[in-house]
Amino acid sequence: MSVQTNITTLKKMVEDIQFSGRHLLSVNDLTNQQIYGLFELAKTLEPWNRSGLNVLQGNVMATLFFQPSTRTRMSFETAMARLGGSVLTETTPLISSSIAKEETLADMIKVVSQYANIIVIRHPDADEATGAVAYADCPVICGAFGHREHPTQALLDLYTLWRTYGRVEGLKVCVATPDLVAARTGHSMALGLARLGARVYLASTRANRIPKEIMDKIKQFKGHVEEAFDMNQAQFNEFISEMDEVYLPGCSAPKGGEADAWKKLMEDYLVRYETIMKTLKEKNKIVYVTHTLPRRPGEMDLRIDTSPGELYFKAIAYSVSIRMSLILAMIGL
Ligand code: CP
Repeated sequence: MSVQTNITTLKKMVEDIQFSGRHLLSVNDLTNQQIYGLFELAKTLEPWNRSGLNVLQGNVMATLFFQPSTRTRMSFETAMARLGGSVLTETTPLISSSIAKEETLADMIKVVSQYANIIVIRHPDADEATGAVAYADCPVICGAFGHREHPTQALLDLYTLWRTYGRVEGLKVCVATPDLVAARTGHSMALGLARLGARVYLASTRANRIPKEIMDKIKQFKGHVEEAFDMNQAQFNEFISEMDEVYLPGCSAPKGGEADAWKKLMEDYLVRYETIMKTLKEKNKIVYVTHTLPRRPGEMDLRIDTSPGELYFKAIAYSVSIRMSLILAMIGL
């Protein structure tokens, strides 16, 4: 295929997604058709995710991260660079931007959107961040807001599932963590799975079950959704042996006096390497494991890293392609 044919093909794919100029604050800002359009575009872009395709030369992305990040910020910045654009990054806005001089987030976004063609922002206060996005004069991507949502993490994990199984519909996926209140990635993933027709299982403590506002949205898709509470490690491993994927959203671990109790709770949600290998041997079935990362020492059995079930590092490569796809769809070509 010639370069010109590639550009013509990409332009048509981008236009068909019909997301140019829009914001992405929730997985639900996308229709299923748009999600599959982004998947197809990402697959087309995969050959360039380690090289470059200069289709966005002259365009600028601003990444404003009010909370720490390795993956989200760097994969967006990589994706923009691969597309030929450039990046302005603010990783310590509380210290080094005019937020430190009591500028409001709304003013900051209004100003930065005059420089940038697209903004990615991570912020601890979901309401404040959502309100400020209304002042932007360019498309804005939520790079995780508070405890609410992390839509592009879900998008990349859904894309990884789609690339692994060739579908999302009908897959049995268990989103598992002791605290589904604070798991913004778990919220976005559960919503994305539900809307694409997967069978959704939510394993958590009863005390920290998924918030009602997220559950209500999941139920709107009228698919299979089931909660499972307070399993011990043996019960949990039995439960996930029936799944196509177990999805472990990283979430904030308490510090200080509560840390030990938390570690004990986390042990109940430890995926055993033996479960993956036994299921493979006895049922000829791979239970894929996704952890959204970062993970803490002891949180996972590291033998899974080199097992057939590992999907979390494979997802890192896919994250660049799907973020290239999203940036193109939002900026346009
Ligand atoms: N998964 C994720 O959001 O990782 P970072 O916090 O490193 O961006």
